[in-house]
Amino acid sequence: MTTEAAGAGASVTLKLATSLDGRIATAAGESRWITGSQAREAVHRLRAEHDAVLVGVETALADDPELTVRLEDYTGPQPARVVLDSRQRLAETCRLAASAREIPTYVVSVEPPQARLTAAGVRVVEVEATEGGRADLESVVAALAALGLRRLFVEGGGQVAASFLRCGLVDRLEWFRAPVVIGGEGRPAVGALALSALAEAPRFARLDVRSVGDDLWERYERI
Ligand SMILES: NC(=O)c1ccc[n+]([C@@H]2O[C@H](COP(=O)([O-])OP(=O)(O)OC[C@H]3O[C@@H](n4cnc5c(N)ncnc54)[C@H](OP(=O)(O)O)[C@@H]3O)[C@@H](O)[C@H]2O)c1
Repeated sequence: MTTEAAGAGASVTLKLATSLDGRIATAAGESRWITGSQAREAVHRLRAEHDAVLVGVETALADDPELTVRLEDYTGPQPARVVLDSRQRLAETCRLAASAREIPTYVVSVEPPQARLTAAGVRVVEVEATEGGRADLESVVAALAALGLRRLFVEGGGQVAASFLRCGLVDRLEWFRAPVVIGGEGRPAVGALALSALAEAPRFARLDVRSVGDDLWERYERI
């Protein structure tokens, strides 16, 4: 069960698929595939347990993902897709927009909706901005909960992971770790947290650890 740090009946699960040294991509942005097929299948099962899969716009631009549940035996509903995209940089030609009429697809912005996205069927949700001009995450979680999207599955990238952790909004961590080392120039799984002391670091209790193919799947909940 989640601890529902997100409030408003919402819960946030953060998924990370990393190298042993906590990188999610090479410096050039290559991330497919760090983990193996069994870990990726487990991720699809986790997606199916949530109302929405959420990523940052940099991930949407770099990977052009579908963020759907793709499992042979799955007949349930597809979770909604959500992109944190303060200035609506998402292309109307990307895969998410192309399937927006079949699967609810939201862009969370701090500006009024752009017609090119809404015409493609993308639903633009306008929320409060942080001082830095980005989507304020407490407003994001509340706005999505009001739309019935209460169980959020955050899939990165590193900046978005850091923002959710910094705001204390992560209830669960699903961490897939592949036996590969990418090095310090790779993209970190979690961006800057601006901690001034170790005591401020978000801490989690491990619930489970198991092998999935060649990878390790660690599950944590917020203390
Ligand atoms: N291995 C994996 O499982 C995995 C998973 C995901 C991503 N990746 C890789 O990670 C890379 C992208 O990660 P990234 O860290 O560069 O970017 P990201 O976290 O995907 O996206 C960051 C962007 O989201 C927008 N945003 C809006 N509100 C935000 C908020 N409150 N906090 C943070 N960001 C907010 C910002 O753009 P605006 O200011 O324009 O809104 C920001 O630049 C890609 O190379 C991708 O392939 C790997």
